[in-house]
Amino acid sequence: MRILITGTPGTGKSSVASEISRREGWALLSLKEIAEKHNCITGKQGVERIVDVRKLRAATIRELKGKKNAVVEGHLGCEFRLPVDFVFVLRTHPDELKARMRKRKYPKMKIEENLMAEMLDYCPQVSATHYKVPILEVDTTKRTAKEAAARIISYLGGKVKKLDEVDWSPELREKTIRNLRISSL
Ligand SMILES: Nc1ncnc2c1ncn2[C@@H]1O[C@H](COP(=O)(O)OP(=O)(O)OP(=O)(O)O)[C@@H](O)[C@H]1O
Ligand SMILES: [Mg+2]
Repeated sequence: MRILITGTPGTGKSSVASEISRREGWALLSLKEIAEKHNCITGKQGVERIVDVRKLRAATIRELKGKKNAVVEGHLGCEFRLPVDFVFVLRTHPDELKARMRKRKYPKMKIEENLMAEMLDYCPQVSATHYKVPILEVDTTKRTAKEAAARIISYLGGKVKKLDEVDWSPELREKTIRNLRISSL
């Protein structure tokens, strides 16, 4: 079994993936680490690192070779197709996500960008353009990483039939209205 854990930064990918890897004894592949190890970082734009996603995909596929059981994690995993059996997209309510990013001292612009990506369902939608395997969402807002990992394992074992459905459109609407008010001042 190979799975991808993707989602907006701060949704808990690294925490959940390492818990799954520890519990199941599966190989753990971090796209961030692979990008660094295989020189896939081609430059910098402000604090942001520019990643050659084609190179990252090729390097990840090479790393996956011969690994029957693996959990790959990273937000860039939604940007291309990897040889996995399931894609899990972690989701977090914008208020909670904002709190997590603030705690990690993310720049204000980055917080705004990531919140918008989360509210617009960026990762599940982009995943759907690349993957033909099931794409499932797991809400980590009120769950610890351990609980989210247990939920994914139960799903894979057939003990849980359905995962989560999130809809942040009310939050998106509220934020858009607030921004419009600000820009019309
Ligand atoms: N379910 C959770 N509940 C509360 N806090 C969490 C949860 N999962 C992770 N966190 C915390 O949120 C922060 C982000 O978690 P983590 O690094 O696992 O996210 P990530 O999705 O891998 O982020 P990135 O894309 O930046 O690598 C960490 O400080 C972590 O301790
Ligand atoms: Mg991470």
